[in-house]
Amino acid sequence: MHDARKVSTLTEDEAQAELARLADILLRADTAYHGEDAPQMSDADYDRLKSRNSEVEARFPHLKRADSPSETVGALPSERFGKVPHAKRMMSLSNAFETTDIVEFDQRVRKYLGVPPDSPLLYTAEPKIDGLSLSLRYEDGVLVQAATRGDGAVGENVTANAKVIKDIPQRLKAAPDILEVRGEVYMNHADFTALNARQSEAGAKTFANPRNAAAGSLRQLDAEVTRSRPLKFFAYAWGEVSAPLADTQFGAITKLESLGFSTNPLTALCNGPDDLMAHYAKIEQQRAGLGYDIDGVVYKVDDLDLQRRLGYRSTTPRWAIAHKFPAELAWTRLEAIEINVGRTGALSPVARLAPVTVGGVVVSNATLHNEDYIAGRGGDGDPIRGGKDIRVGDWVQVYRAGDVIPKIADVDPSKRPDDAEPFDFPRICPECGSDAIREEGDAVRRCSGGLVCPAQAVEKLKHFVSRAAFDIEGLGTKQVEMFYADDQLPVQTPADIFTLEARDKANLTKLSNREGWGEVSARNLFAAIDQRRTVPLARLIFALGIRHVGEVAARDLARHFGSWQALVDAADAAAPAAVCQLEADAAETEERQLAVDEGRRARIKPVRDAVWAGVDGPAIAAWRDLIGIDGIGSTVAISLVTSFQQKAERESIDRLVAELTIQDAAAPATGGSPVAGKTVVFTGTLEKMTRAEAKARAEALGAKVSGSVSARTDILVAGPGAGSKASKAAELGVKTMDEDAWLAMIGGA
Ligand code: IVH
Repeated sequence: MHDARKVSTLTEDEAQAELARLADILLRADTAYHGEDAPQMSDADYDRLKSRNSEVEARFPHLKRADSPSETVGALPSERFGKVPHAKRMMSLSNAFETTDIVEFDQRVRKYLGVPPDSPLLYTAEPKIDGLSLSLRYEDGVLVQAATRGDGAVGENVTANAKVIKDIPQRLKAAPDILEVRGEVYMNHADFTALNARQSEAGAKTFANPRNAAAGSLRQLDAEVTRSRPLKFFAYAWGEVSAPLADTQFGAITKLESLGFSTNPLTALCNGPDDLMAHYAKIEQQRAGLGYDIDGVVYKVDDLDLQRRLGYRSTTPRWAIAHKFPAELAWTRLEAIEINVGRTGALSPVARLAPVTVGGVVVSNATLHNEDYIAGRGGDGDPIRGGKDIRVGDWVQVYRAGDVIPKIADVDPSKRPDDAEPFDFPRICPECGSDAIREEGDAVRRCSGGLVCPAQAVEKLKHFVSRAAFDIEGLGTKQVEMFYADDQLPVQTPADIFTLEARDKANLTKLSNREGWGEVSARNLFAAIDQRRTVPLARLIFALGIRHVGEVAARDLARHFGSWQALVDAADAAAPAAVCQLEADAAETEERQLAVDEGRRARIKPVRDAVWAGVDGPAIAAWRDLIGIDGIGSTVAISLVTSFQQKAERESIDRLVAELTIQDAAAPATGGSPVAGKTVVFTGTLEKMTRAEAKARAEALGAKVSGSVSARTDILVAGPGAGSKASKAAELGVKTMDEDAWLAMIGGA
């Protein structure tokens, strides 16, 4: 957008022309926003133009137009679609590329279930559709809601759009009362080509590939636009159901088909890895002629009871895997190697490439992983690519698989320019000049500057405001970068976000008068920030961006400690022991090396004991408690404890916490399990699991499952139709809960 003249310098004629220009642009922006694929201007630009319009009107009130944009309804909605929580999380799939991955998948499944290698074990195999997933909720046979995947827990409400897709039934006959059907929205190649032709004829934007076209067409504010787009839908899974669809995956898919959904005709039942590989080969052969994009084959355990027993890891089922097609390859020249500094200080080399098309997408960057990778060494120190290093100026082979960042597979030294030099990996952080240190056993070199390093500080802030962390609306990557570098209203640590409004009040130039901001956008931002002052403990822990402490570890820590204070006290108490653990590890490595040099056996125990002798009991107890939490190993624990001990980091955290109200997590309990040592009784009908599964899971969490209620019973889980056991429990004052509450408590809802 071009720079406009200062309003105070405009003559009356110029002001009139300017008001006409702004009315036109803003009207067009509104239309684009509400009617077409993508808004043509950012919210910030829109706000800026709108406030410029008001400014001109304020100076020349008599020039205000009849169709003045300041009279049109308020600001843009800050969110395009409403959010809807999924009754059951929408999961993703873990990936496999090689035959051995599939053999191992089968072995893992068998081991988990106790199925011997020679017994049959059936899987379904079906194409992995390259589109976007959609969850359709039917109540009493009527489509009542459609939601995109979103972050898996909460999606976007696209009900009006789903209702105009011909492939999606509006009503179902003889369906369970509640049925959530999940599947993929996609576009055929022919339809995609025709759509792009229509778009370019109309001067509208064209799409890079069918997947983008499908996503752009579904996520329309005006459902009439969606109606005009040829979207299709394959059903392949389900979420909440009030009654089971079948006993098997294959049976359930057949049932969905009989209810009127399109299901993929290449879905087959296979017995074991050989059979799966054969079906994979068949699908791969047919791939080019299918007329729509697929990027692999999905294998799922067929027996739904077995699926239930296998359950889920944090984001993927144990009972399924996506066998991806081999990545697409292309050769191009490596023009430069740049170093990015990430949130945890990691120096990540990025290849800048002469742009090349790989599988229909133009690629101009690729990851180079780390310095060893560039030098031709793998994680174990052994040569990769036959030991060939990668130099600026080289011909390199790029590949991409699925949505992942492109990578470099190979290099052709015969085309290397004579003056190409081996890459000299920086020993100093390119962003802040601190030493970049590579620790023993770490493949990555890291900037030691901590929060002093602007790159780390900015990345930490970006992480802090990201969706799974504080999720502050209107404060994204771009805004964080802007505020970080701002002189008047700087945001350099998370606490600064929460003092933004107060500081803005005290400033002479207000945020709302700045370039790119308006009254509305500033007000909305402050409101969005305020909304996040109350935060669940797990979110806060995750948001801190401590290395190795991801969403799952944060949740485990929150559950174990319950409150922020308990976590801080424990981390402080354990600090001397964490340092010791590090020293002991180092001493052990040294002793092993020494032993090799001296040709004797390593004496590890005395070395360790010597280090640990200096630590007092409470520290050791706190340390044991920490690493005793299910899912928290010593790597996570050391990282957590040491980051709390770093002065700048600790100050930043303390300042943040002073701005917040932190919600405690569900009651802490022994060994990380809320039901360890408790006696539990199940009664009535369980809808989300079989009795056997409920018992097995409770026992796995350390509970004792009993068949009858007595004074020793701690918890009664009562489903519909619970009779005498429920009344007896009430008499005895035994805590009673329904299945959902139970699942929420054990973390399996
Ligand atoms: S099953 C719990 N089956 O792939 C498992 N997913 O990489 C639910 N996808 O988010 C997914 N074709 O959008 C399944 N035949 C298929 C699929 C499929 C495409 C997508 C889906 C999912 C993603 C995971």
